[in-house]
Amino acid sequence: MAVGSWQKEQEELHKKQPARFIEEQPFATVVGRLKEDQARFGTQGVGYIGKHIVGTGEDAHTTTKVLLDLLRPHIILISGKRGTGKSYLGGIITEELALLPNEFRQNVAVVMVDTMGIFWSMKRPNDQQSELLKTWNLEPRGFDNVKVFVPFEQQEEFIRAGIPIDEGISILPYEFSAEEWSLAFNLKRTDHIAISLEKNINELIRDGKKFTIDDIIAKIRDDAGTSKEVKNALDNMLTVAAQWGVFGERGINIDDLVVPGQISIVDVSRLRATEAWSVRNFLVAILTRKIYQYRVFARKEEEVAKIEGIKTTGKKYPIVWLIIDEAHNFCPSDYETVSSSPILTVAKQGREPGVSMIVITQMPNKIHQDILSQTDLVISHRLTSKADIEALHAVMQTYLFEDMWKYINQLPRWPGAAIILDDGTAAVI
Ligand SMILES: Nc1ncnc2c1ncn2[C@@H]1O[C@H](COP(=O)(O)OP(=O)(O)OP(=O)(O)O)[C@@H](O)[C@H]1O
Ligand SMILES: [Mg+2]
Repeated sequence: MAVGSWQKEQEELHKKQPARFIEEQPFATVVGRLKEDQARFGTQGVGYIGKHIVGTGEDAHTTTKVLLDLLRPHIILISGKRGTGKSYLGGIITEELALLPNEFRQNVAVVMVDTMGIFWSMKRPNDQQSELLKTWNLEPRGFDNVKVFVPFEQQEEFIRAGIPIDEGISILPYEFSAEEWSLAFNLKRTDHIAISLEKNINELIRDGKKFTIDDIIAKIRDDAGTSKEVKNALDNMLTVAAQWGVFGERGINIDDLVVPGQISIVDVSRLRATEAWSVRNFLVAILTRKIYQYRVFARKEEEVAKIEGIKTTGKKYPIVWLIIDEAHNFCPSDYETVSSSPILTVAKQGREPGVSMIVITQMPNKIHQDILSQTDLVISHRLTSKADIEALHAVMQTYLFEDMWKYINQLPRWPGAAIILDDGTAAVI
């Protein structure tokens, strides 16, 4: 994995940090950390994600700490059956990023796509589990650097439900290609409807105007080459899309979401069921693309500043951790969605400019193969389907399938129990 300039900066910072765990936990294991980093940084720049489990069944008990490397970019897969603790772990990693020593935290931004409407609660202390937290020597705490973003037309609804939101976001129709519009409507590209839609959107894009959905509808209405039936079908589809409540004039300002030390929760849980996934895919597509572009730009700035010795403007471009829950819906294995391509780009090329991604899924078998093949760390809770364990095995071929099956099946039935497959060390934890 390439080491970017920002990583060097992080390393310098870390040399100055007091070790958070080193004295208190000499036997901790750091997962996801390269051997050379292990020697240099020990247990600095890590998140405390759990403890080792020793023994099986009734005899199972926890021992030493398991820490996750937060120094370098990672593509992490969290899998497991319903209710096994995947989202909870996503929340833990986010919190650990927020708890890093200040200088390091100021160089990290977290953007979390929340399809279940659960992560806004990070703003408040977890009092419900305070007894459990005590047994782990932890205290419930709320985070003041959490911001909740929701589709702009739903702001009222969230407020009525008592959810503390910070800002509304919207998407701009002209930020998507003609092909992406076809994907969003689930159209076969050879279909008459798709052909007309793409042709007209391409013409609008070529004109260079910032068009609205009404502009697309008007353009198609005026198109002599489109039949009346196709016009009506497209009119219907686009009118419904306009009512999704996410298209607006402001779009997504990435500087609001990617902020040093901030956890941005994009809550897409309350969309009307019929079109919810089309809207979520649109939102995630643009969000992921913007995060990637942001880091590519930041990386170039950093390089230029380094080569020419130019003083930077002082603007901080934090590295980004993008966390996507229910990820098999955003980048599935058996069909393409609008968000497939941006997510795959981050999976394949994101680490170099400094984008980490955590994909969370119940069904590793249903997530795009290219994401799986890019993961360097798999954290899997209990899984019972052979196809899902096979999907994990395909990623981590250094492990025997039988071993993987055995480990996953021997996991105690506690929420949160998981195995960790670390591509770097080829160890099972
Ligand atoms: N490590 C843990 N320690 C204590 N409680 C946990 C832990 N992990 C999960 N839980 C509890 O177990 C329940 C299920 O967790 P969670 O919602 O994270 O599961 P999930 O795998 O994301 O489920 P789903 O597939 O339905 O999204 C929650 O009530 C959560 O508080
Ligand atoms: Mg979940």
